[in-house]
Amino acid sequence: MGVLDGKVGVVTGATSGIGARTAEVFAAEGARVVIAGRRTDEGEALARSIGDAAVFHRTDVSVEEDVAALVDRAVDAFGRVDVMVNNAGSPSHLTGVMDVERSLFDATLSVHVTGTLLGIKYAARAMRESGGGSIVNMCSVAGHAGGYSGLDYSVAKAAVAHLTRCAAVELGEYGIRVNSVSPGFVLTGIFGKGAGAADADAADARTDGLRHLMTDMMGAHQPLPGIGETDDPAAAMVFLASDAARMITGQDLAVDGGMLAGRPAAVMLAERARIAALVTGGGPAET
Ligand SMILES: NC(=O)c1ccc[n+]([C@@H]2O[C@H](COP(=O)([O-])OP(=O)(O)OC[C@H]3O[C@@H](n4cnc5c(N)ncnc54)[C@H](OP(=O)(O)O)[C@@H]3O)[C@@H](O)[C@H]2O)c1
Repeated sequence: MGVLDGKVGVVTGATSGIGARTAEVFAAEGARVVIAGRRTDEGEALARSIGDAAVFHRTDVSVEEDVAALVDRAVDAFGRVDVMVNNAGSPSHLTGVMDVERSLFDATLSVHVTGTLLGIKYAARAMRESGGGSIVNMCSVAGHAGGYSGLDYSVAKAAVAHLTRCAAVELGEYGIRVNSVSPGFVLTGIFGKGAGAADADAADARTDGLRHLMTDMMGAHQPLPGIGETDDPAAAMVFLASDAARMITGQDLAVDGGMLAGRPAAVMLAERARIAALVTGGGPAET
């Protein structure tokens, strides 16, 4: 028996990475699931691999008609929507505030913020009809602190965190919970896509090649060793989707190896040791 038995979920951005894994885990936990994204071949292949519990619906989350049709498809295929995961996301453009290009900034906000808003809008309408549900939005550590991604992505994710709270206080009366998940760094193709890989499939295919480098980079930022896997945010989304979270709304659940709690103490101690070496000629310094 799964914790999502009998539920119907919609997962946007499920043609790769965290969304694809979330759709698989939802199905393994007993849910029927609608997989959404723009890449038809990848989405249909994932739906086939899951079997009768999944269908793919091609969706660009920045297009309102697409999102409305996605929710309609879920109701047509499976009768209702109990869980909406607004996960679709594009990489940062990595330009700073003095070089930002308006069109690229708008494009990032259009996917992350407007796409999430539209997902909430149409899922909430369906959930109100059926008596409630759970909406889980994809945020990021970059939405809570600067320096983890580019300006456009960070601002967009901060907006997703606040949109989550605003929607939660409005939709509670209909029995609709709204929460978000903030991963730290999870090994997916989004980094290759942001770094200029030839196409999305090429970036997805080369993801594992980044494992060593990224694990090494995390050492300065993340108290827990290692790098996030797609299973990590997927598990958080299962929890927030499930009835175990029935009294949780308006919250953000960080799945970040402790990154937002602070730097590893060992990093601070190493800095203090360098200060001590300068001040005392090698001995320990008072703090
Ligand atoms: N990986 C990390 O370290 C990390 C950390 C924090 C947060 N996140 C967030 O997690 C989410 C998933 O990212 P990921 O890491 O799994 O990367 P990914 O593998 O590149 O997944 C992104 C997904 O979003 C879809 N997408 C992009 N633009 C879309 C649009 N306009 N309409 C519909 N779907 C769209 C992509 O599918 P199509 O190309 O087929 O449309 C793809 O399925 C994103 O919101 C990302 O910001 C990731």
